[in-house]
Amino acid sequence: MRNIVVAGAQWGDEGKGKVVDLIAGAFDLVVRFQGGNNAGHSVEFGGKRYALHLLPSGVFHAGTQNLIGNGVVVDPKALLSEIDKLNQQGVSVNPDNLKLSDRAQIVMPYHIVLDRFREASADRKIGTTGKGIGPAYEFKAARRGIRFCDVGHPAHFQKRVAEELSGLQSDFPLIPDLQALQVDTVLAELAPVLERLAPFIVDGVVLANREIAAGKRVLFEGAQATLLDLDFGTYPYVTSSNSCAVGVPAGCGVAPQKIDAVIGITKAYCTRVGEGPFPSELNDALGEQIRKVGNEFGTTTGRPRRCGWLDLVALKYAHTINAFDSLALMKMDVLNDLDEVWVCDAYDQDGLTITDFPASLEDLKQMVPRYKRFAGWKQSLAGVHQYDALPPAALAVIRYIETYLGCSVDLVSTGPDRTQTLLKPGSLMARLAEQAN
Ligand code: GDP
Ligand code: IMO
Ligand code: MG
Repeated sequence: MRNIVVAGAQWGDEGKGKVVDLIAGAFDLVVRFQGGNNAGHSVEFGGKRYALHLLPSGVFHAGTQNLIGNGVVVDPKALLSEIDKLNQQGVSVNPDNLKLSDRAQIVMPYHIVLDRFREASADRKIGTTGKGIGPAYEFKAARRGIRFCDVGHPAHFQKRVAEELSGLQSDFPLIPDLQALQVDTVLAELAPVLERLAPFIVDGVVLANREIAAGKRVLFEGAQATLLDLDFGTYPYVTSSNSCAVGVPAGCGVAPQKIDAVIGITKAYCTRVGEGPFPSELNDALGEQIRKVGNEFGTTTGRPRRCGWLDLVALKYAHTINAFDSLALMKMDVLNDLDEVWVCDAYDQDGLTITDFPASLEDLKQMVPRYKRFAGWKQSLAGVHQYDALPPAALAVIRYIETYLGCSVDLVSTGPDRTQTLLKPGSLMARLAEQAN
């Protein structure tokens, strides 16, 4: 098991950052393969909390390289300020431990303007993070994007920026913030930022494949999650990239047969930020309680996350697509005080039992969750230091999830810190965590 993917199994914010950080020390290279600074991955250790948006969560480990792959859309200013902030916090991020693919697309100021304008004016708001992610991927697919490999050719780069900006300004005369952008100012603001990023730029395909050929170990860190995936998520309320394991080969140029295992990350309940269907959502005091106890507010935008029960129909669908070798069950502690813990294991639609996650939002709207109810464990998990010492009521929920999915829950997380982690003895994740130390 050399090269491993960590992928979100729900609607994001499952705790991918915590898990990647926990095992990153066992890997030589950590790769982000899609998304952009719409992601917010929190990592906590030594009494400090860090929020990463574009940087892979391997940056805290000396000896681990990090790569931002070609599938990522990168806002240069956001990347530089993240690098600077971490260095100020005493975490060294430099061209030795961070590389940026020359094929990665640049998020331009006009992408951000378009994203925010559409969200402010659309009838069918997606609830995006407003970071320009959708428009940057649209430009990529329309073959209008500008990449980091273009930066080294200044005349070409300037011409491309001018062409795109003036083209947009004539296409959209009624977007004031777009009309206000001036090509000279855009280029002048970008120039010093791109100059500082130049030493980080490499051929990402060569780097990732050279490491693998040399027998090094690579960890692929997903952003967003399966139900936000452009093809498999709750379309159109999704992000604009392939944010499950299928995104790896396209997002960094590593062939699928080089990937040895996929680890899925899920919360013990479910959250979603932004618009879109959420069958097991709790629009009541209990949902509010979970939000408060779980501190469910976005790492990137600070927005309150919508909360609900764990949805096994959706999780099984995620398992089908990703073929998880192992699952991490996060935020178990958030349910400590509940009298009962409910788990959705089927939907009812007009008297029919549905166990396959539907494609159509019109169908999804009609799904009435059916719940399996478990007694709560009603105790703090703070004093539990071994997986097998979890309260029987918590283990009963875990066993039900494992049986339903046919997948082992290798890790149970009982708090945000690295140390608040229980590992199933002898499991894949236990071995990785041991190798990381
Ligand atoms: P990511 O986007 O998947 O990396 O997840 P986020 O970092 O956006 O959101 C997860 C949040 O839950 C962060 O604030 C983490 O510090 C926190 N967290 C992770 N695991 C646990 C856990 O087991 N218990 C609690 N209470 N918080 C956790
Ligand atoms: P991490 O990696 C949760 C959501 C947005 C919105 C939709 C589209 O931290 O899990 P976008 O800005 O991507 O066009 O927004 O996707 N979204 C996320 N939700 N966690 C994330 O990342 C997200 N990244 C995007 O809220 O609903
Ligand atoms: Mg997040």
